[in-house]
Amino acid sequence: MGKIMASVYDTVMYPLEKLFLTQKRRTLLKHASGYVLDIGSGTGVNFPFFNPETTDVYAIEPDKAMREKAKQKPVPDYIHIEAAGAESIPVPDHTFDTVVSTLVFCSIDQPDQAFNELKRVLKPGGKLYFIEHIRAASPFVQTIQDKLTPMWKQLADGCHLNRPTDKLIDQHFTVIQKTYYFKKIITVIVAEYG
Ligand SMILES: C[S@@+](CC[C@H](N)C(=O)[O-])C[C@H]1O[C@@H](n2cnc3c(N)ncnc32)[C@H](O)[C@@H]1O
Repeated sequence: MGKIMASVYDTVMYPLEKLFLTQKRRTLLKHASGYVLDIGSGTGVNFPFFNPETTDVYAIEPDKAMREKAKQKPVPDYIHIEAAGAESIPVPDHTFDTVVSTLVFCSIDQPDQAFNELKRVLKPGGKLYFIEHIRAASPFVQTIQDKLTPMWKQLADGCHLNRPTDKLIDQHFTVIQKTYYFKKIITVIVAEYG
């Protein structure tokens, strides 16, 4: 994301956090348990919502400035931050009980490779918790997303406004629960592997 984005990320996201995201993170992430992989952990916004009694967290974040920003906050000792992307995670097969991905799949260069890598590192029966913005259901909004995405990718470090991440999740995992918000532009998904 670079230094500028890392330095303004929490401030820019503040209204959306207050409106929606913080409550969704709290509700969703209390279910994360065991050894948890938090991909694209950014500035560490998910960290306060993991239960210290029931989780150890391995957070991966490829962007140095984002990792440094996260480490400026108090990071509890059950959370470890590693420099890595979701397409290649430096752990053995079947390591994690749970995967968390919040607002990340829009930015991943090769989403199918990342989903396959999540299958490799998850234990069979492992759970996945997603909050993602996605390609809208409305053709009108889709057209706007398609037009804005080339410019938005430059501004927001490769973020695709028009990526159908919900459909990709359907292809890779068993969806247990899926809820759409804001005219189906944001989805919260609980899924299982295997
Ligand atoms: C919009 S931020 C989301 C940060 C945080 N998860 C949240 O909920 O606010 C997207 C993050 O994904 C990271 N990212 C980009 N490409 C990635 C990849 N291939 N694997 C993992 N994370 C990636 C970015 O560096 C950035 O920190």
